[in-house]
Amino acid sequence: TKPSENLNTNLILVNKYNYVTQDYIPENLEPIDTAYARSGMQLVSEAKNAFEELSQNAKEDDMTILAMSSYRSYDYQVNLYNNYVETDGKQAADTYSARAGYSEHQTGLAVDVYNGVIPYTSFEETEEFTWMQQNAYKYGFILRYPKDKEEITEYMYEPWHLRYVGDIAPYIYNNDLTLEEYYDIAKKNLDNY
Ligand code: DAL
Ligand code: ZN
Repeated sequence: TKPSENLNTNLILVNKYNYVTQDYIPENLEPIDTAYARSGMQLVSEAKNAFEELSQNAKEDDMTILAMSSYRSYDYQVNLYNNYVETDGKQAADTYSARAGYSEHQTGLAVDVYNGVIPYTSFEETEEFTWMQQNAYKYGFILRYPKDKEEITEYMYEPWHLRYVGDIAPYIYNNDLTLEEYYDIAKKNLDNY
């Protein structure tokens, strides 16, 4: 494992091999308007604006997309992960929860969504999920842990977890990539340059 590069940019990669330190707090965290989120939710400014626009436009299509978890501090993630380990054991917890420092939620660019009615774990069954599949990339968000990509992301499929990447989102979406695959391609292009 190694420290993540591209801190405080839309390109930061945090996964099982790239971590942020305990003291990493992204710059420009801002609260998400409670019209679009549970109270106390924060994202990095650019991601927050994009998310509010997404949620507002979803509302105009009669869809409810709310943030239920977004920025999480290192210490918050410590507790979350430990609780999962107590409930399910380490091996199971590692398939769906990041250890502290290894969670994309610490970047302030990740958001878990639900429709305000059905628990987020069943988000896939909602019409809001279909809307997100068709529209999230237009606002700079990608589905971070897709189905059938578990071997690449090393996490279970998470239909509710979106990651803000900004203007590379359409490329990632149109080529059906994970952020890990995007990084590999970008790196190869640089090597060949
Ligand atoms: N559920 C994702 C992997 C996290 O804990 O960051
Ligand atoms: Zn998440």
